[in-house]
Amino acid sequence: MKILLLHGPNLNLLGTREPEIYGAMTLDDINEKMIALGKELGTEIKCLQSNHEGALIDALHDARTWASGVVFNPGGYTHTSVALRDAISAIVIPVIEVHLSNVYAREEFRHTSFVSAVCKGKVSGFGWRSYELGLRGLIDIINA
Ligand code: DQA
Repeated sequence: MKILLLHGPNLNLLGTREPEIYGAMTLDDINEKMIALGKELGTEIKCLQSNHEGALIDALHDARTWASGVVFNPGGYTHTSVALRDAISAIVIPVIEVHLSNVYAREEFRHTSFVSAVCKGKVSGFGWRSYELGLRGLIDIINA
């Protein structure tokens, strides 16, 4: 089994970006943890981050040719992007939406997600563990 771990805009700055909200771990730290967890669970994890909406759409399209599913933190595009939502519904493989922070405990504009309705599930508010919970849930869905 292969899974794409996809990170959207500004997540390359994790570790230094508002650590009181997003925690002290860097993106590399999170990716390493998820690759190790994937190994434990018999899954190969490919990690990709982009600050560009089109590149994220391309990565989702490409994933349908090789991945069994996607764990996706769309960052700020969560709250704005019809195009990402369309890309997720265009690919048949399951996508899990993840957020480090609890978006519902923050500004009102973060309460709206353009992608939730087309994702299989959503994890928000557990810090880096949101990725772990999302990955475990996705593998269970794929195996079911
Ligand atoms: C985020 C939440 C978004 O609202 C924000 O724009 C991000 C990160 C999170 O992981 O908590 O960039 O997706």
